[in-house]
Amino acid sequence: TGHTTLDYGFVNTASTKSAITYIDGDQGILRYRGYPIEQLAKNSTYLEVAWLLIYGELPSASELESFDERIRRHTLLHEDLKSLFSALPPTAHPMSVLSAATAALSTYYESESDPHNPEHVELNTVRMLAKLPVIAAYAHKKSIGQAFLYPDNKLSFVDNFLKLNFGVMSETYESNPVMTKALDLLLMLHADHEQNASTSTVRLVGSTGANQFASISAGIQALSGPLHGGANEAVLQMLGRIRDSGESVERFVERVKNKEEGVKLMGFGHRVYKNYDPRAKLVKEAADEVLEALGVSDPLLDLAKELEQIALEDDYFKARRLYPNVDFYTGVIYKAMGFPTRMFTVLFAIGRLPGWLAQWREAITDPQTKIGRPQQLYTGAAVRNYPGV
Ligand code: CMC
Repeated sequence: TGHTTLDYGFVNTASTKSAITYIDGDQGILRYRGYPIEQLAKNSTYLEVAWLLIYGELPSASELESFDERIRRHTLLHEDLKSLFSALPPTAHPMSVLSAATAALSTYYESESDPHNPEHVELNTVRMLAKLPVIAAYAHKKSIGQAFLYPDNKLSFVDNFLKLNFGVMSETYESNPVMTKALDLLLMLHADHEQNASTSTVRLVGSTGANQFASISAGIQALSGPLHGGANEAVLQMLGRIRDSGESVERFVERVKNKEEGVKLMGFGHRVYKNYDPRAKLVKEAADEVLEALGVSDPLLDLAKELEQIALEDDYFKARRLYPNVDFYTGVIYKAMGFPTRMFTVLFAIGRLPGWLAQWREAITDPQTKIGRPQQLYTGAAVRNYPGV
C-alpha cells in the first residue's frame, strides 16, 4: 500500500511510538520516563530505574522492596543449565555465551512463556533480571577456569553480581562500596536508549509472537557488534594498541581522518547525539572518582583524555559533530574493577536488560503493533527462463 521509501539504516523512519525514553540528540538530553538522566544518576539506583522503565512510574518504597525480594528469589539457575557452559569452548566470547544461555533458559519455561499472559510476562521479567547477571558471571568464571559460585541472596543485586564474578569458593567475599556504587551507576546509565539496533531487534522479534527469552537473546546478539555495545571492548583494544605501538595520539587521529581501512575512533560518534553524549559526561566524571577511590592509576585513562581533547579540537570531528559516546570511558572503569575486556559488552547487556524488557512489553501491549516487515526495492534480474524452458 502507498509507495515505498528507501531508508538505509532507518535514519528517517520511526518504527513505533514509545513513552519510555526521550532523547534530544542536538542538545544532549536523555530522560527515562521524563526524568533527566543526571537526576537519576545522582539519586536513584539500577533496580529503581528498572522498575521505572518497565512500569512507567517510580516505585514506592514497598514496591521496590518486594521487586528486589522477588528478583533475589529467582537468581538460581536450573542445575542442568550449567552443563551448557561446559559444552562451549573456554575461549567462547561471553556475549555469545550470554545469548546462548538466555535462549536456552526459554526451554525451561516453555509452558510459562505466553507473551499474552500477563502473569507469564511478569514472571519472566523477574526471571531474566535475576538470572542473566548470574549467567554473565558464570561466562566470566568459565573463561578464567574458575568454579561457579551460588548466588548469595542476602546480598544486594549489584553485590551479588560482583561476588559471583570476583568471589572465590574458599574465601569470604568482602564487598567494596566504591565498586558497588560505581557499577550500579554504570548499569543504570545503560538501562535504556530508545530504538537503537538491539532494542529494535528485541521489538522486531517480539512482533512475531516469539517469547521474551527469544527476543532478549536476539537483542544480546545485536548488541555485540563493534558499532553498538561492542564498542566499549573496542575502545580498550584501541587504547591498548596505541600504547603498545608507541604511535603518537596525533598520528593515530590522522589515520582515523584519512579513513584508513579499519581505523575509526571507537567510542566516538552517535546516530542520534550530535553533541556530547550526556551519559559519557557522567561516566567521565565517575572514571576519575572510581580510579582514585580504588587506588588505581591507569595510563589508558590519560590516553583516552588526550585522544578526546585532540579530537574535540579537530575540524574533521567538529564538522561531523562527533563527540565521545557512552562507550568511550566505561571500559577504563570496568578494567579498574577487574573485569576482563571481553566482559565489557556483557556489562552493557545487563545494564540494557530493563530497557529491552520495558520496550518488549510496550510493543506487545500496543494495539497498533504489527509484525515488523520492512519493504525492499528490488534490484535483481528481470524474469528469465530456466535453461531449456
Ligand atoms: N571515527 C571516525 N569517523 C567517524 C566516526 C568515528 N568513530 N563515526 C562517524 N564518523 C564519520 C563517518 O566516517 C562519516 O564521515 P563522512 O561523512 O566523511 O562519510 C560521518 O562521520 C558520519 O558517520 P556515519 O557512519 O554516517 O554515522 P552513523 O550514524 O551511521 O553511525 C556510529 C554512528 C555510532 C555507528 C558511528 O559514529 C561509529 O561507527 N562510531 C564508532 C563506534 C562506536 O563508538 N559505537 C558506539 C555507539 S554509542 C552506544 C552504543 O550503541 O553502543
